[in-house]
Amino acid sequence: MEDKKFKIKEVTVLVRKYLNDQKLPFAILAAISFSYIALQIYSPQIIRNFIDEITGRNDKNVLFRFAAIYIAAAFLMQCFRLLSTYMSQNIGWKATNRLRNDLTWHCMNLDMSFHKEHLPGEIIERIDGDVSNLINLFSNFMIQVVGSVFFLIGVLGVLFAEDWRIGAVLTAYALAAALIMFNFSKFGIPFWQKNSKYRAEYFGFVGEQLANREDIHSSGAAEYSRYKFKLMLNQWFPFERKATIMGFSMWTMGMTIFFIGIIAALGVAGHLWTDKVITLGVVFLIYNYTLMIHDPIRQLQTQLQDLQKAVAGIRRINLLLDIQPSIKYGTNELPMNKAPELEVRNAEFHYEEGSPVIRDLSFHLKPGEVLGLIGRTGSGKTTIGRLMLRLYEIQKGRIMVNGLDLNSLTEKSLREHVAVVTQDVELFNTSIRNNLRFFDESVTDEMIYTAFEKLGISEWIKKFPKGLDTVLQSDRSGLSAGQAQLLALVRIFLRNPSLVIMDEASSRLDPATEGLINRAIDHLLNGRTAIVIAHRLWTVQRADKILILEDGLVKEYGYRNDLIKDPASRFNELLKIGLEEVLV
Ligand SMILES: Nc1ncnc2c1ncn2[C@@H]1O[C@H](COP(=O)(O)OP(=O)(O)O)[C@@H](O)[C@H]1O
Ligand SMILES: [Mg+2]
Repeated sequence: MEDKKFKIKEVTVLVRKYLNDQKLPFAILAAISFSYIALQIYSPQIIRNFIDEITGRNDKNVLFRFAAIYIAAAFLMQCFRLLSTYMSQNIGWKATNRLRNDLTWHCMNLDMSFHKEHLPGEIIERIDGDVSNLINLFSNFMIQVVGSVFFLIGVLGVLFAEDWRIGAVLTAYALAAALIMFNFSKFGIPFWQKNSKYRAEYFGFVGEQLANREDIHSSGAAEYSRYKFKLMLNQWFPFERKATIMGFSMWTMGMTIFFIGIIAALGVAGHLWTDKVITLGVVFLIYNYTLMIHDPIRQLQTQLQDLQKAVAGIRRINLLLDIQPSIKYGTNELPMNKAPELEVRNAEFHYEEGSPVIRDLSFHLKPGEVLGLIGRTGSGKTTIGRLMLRLYEIQKGRIMVNGLDLNSLTEKSLREHVAVVTQDVELFNTSIRNNLRFFDESVTDEMIYTAFEKLGISEWIKKFPKGLDTVLQSDRSGLSAGQAQLLALVRIFLRNPSLVIMDEASSRLDPATEGLINRAIDHLLNGRTAIVIAHRLWTVQRADKILILEDGLVKEYGYRNDLIKDPASRFNELLKIGLEEVLV
């Protein structure tokens, strides 16, 4: 794929899509840029006229007149430049920000398996780093390339008009130079592409290390981490070097070609001047234009280099966009505010082929019933919650809600009705208010306080001096696991789902918080169908049905009261040993 021939379509499709709403600014930018180029072509003429006039006579006024025109032209040129830089940055950032937005959204919607394979740091680099290389492509590239060609033709045209020999020599030179550059420029693409890949992986690694710094230090893995860090840099470096050398050799080549051009032009012009075919003013003109020819050629060269990076970026962006979420949603909706019936029939699931995690799982809950799910670590409890949210999909069997296949629900309905309180609550580095309402401005403080009240924990929130304005840390420092769990319960309560899966925190709770959690859970589960993944006796006791999971298999399943009555049941045995002892 990396050797794939460059196709202009790869670029145009993307550029057209993201420049579509900026046609007018783009047209203005093009007009300014072309005016700038026209002025550039014109300005040596001012000096040439001046030289030719002054060599004949001795008139001071001529000098002032030409100086005034020249300064005016230079001033105007700087204005154009300023304006075009401003506009092109504006256009470029707007377009790339839209692309960043789309890519972020795309990644958010991708399967969990994608996020398992790609670390956050890597994804950030792909959303931002690869896109940064495109700013120029969106704003300047077309104008610069067309402008440079236009500039080149303009300069050569003027030279032809002066003297065809000069025109011919410099045209041949420009063509040869452009040809060489075009042919060399494409060698860099694979290097840039590899370079971006290593770069993204490196940032993924750094992100991961930073996130896990506590564990790395406490487990003495810092040395290994440093070694890996070095290893990755060593892998990356050769490509960065090659890509940069590639760029430099192109630059050196450009300079060499440039000097050859100047020598050729001055040689021819000198000859013609000695033969009195042209004036001194024209010699200056030729010299000046030869210098100027270099500008558009170098522009083209830089643009091509940027294009290399951009194409490498676009390829990686397209690869990312080609990854499609495998989950498709249906069109069915669940009735609002009504606890649904839930039935799981012979569900099977594995994360990786060959190692089944859920094997033949079946259970049934009437509306409002609560299932207590019990099992050791690794038995597949958390996985069941993920399946209910469709973060992953069962490979066999069915999950039915109110008689409708879970897969047939719209995404909106699924998100509204099904919610999971995760074992490890994720918090955002923002106020408690925003952590509870997920930045949904329509959720008022009053609604939040009512939620605390209904969950029976309104005294608890009053203990925070800053109340809802208290800023939380995303690593949960400052809150105990139990407190975080309480916030998670309020969060879910505010969302008001009809089917709740509660993955109880397995860490031990202080008795005060435990009391609050128990009360909150009672209120939360009221009027909803629920699965509670239970580690504590208290939680189990509010379940109507019990399911004991072992290695993804149903070990025991039935009404709690029936199981308690049966002296031979595994449930009874567990209660005797003590749930908390067995299930930590
Ligand atoms: N994202 C994942 N990718 C691959 N395997 C996983 C993943 N999550 C969990 N597992 C595996 O699936 C099994 C069940 O895990 P889990 O549902 O977390 O169990 P529990 O919540 O009961 O402790 C375990 O063997 C675990 O290693
Ligand atoms: Mg778990």
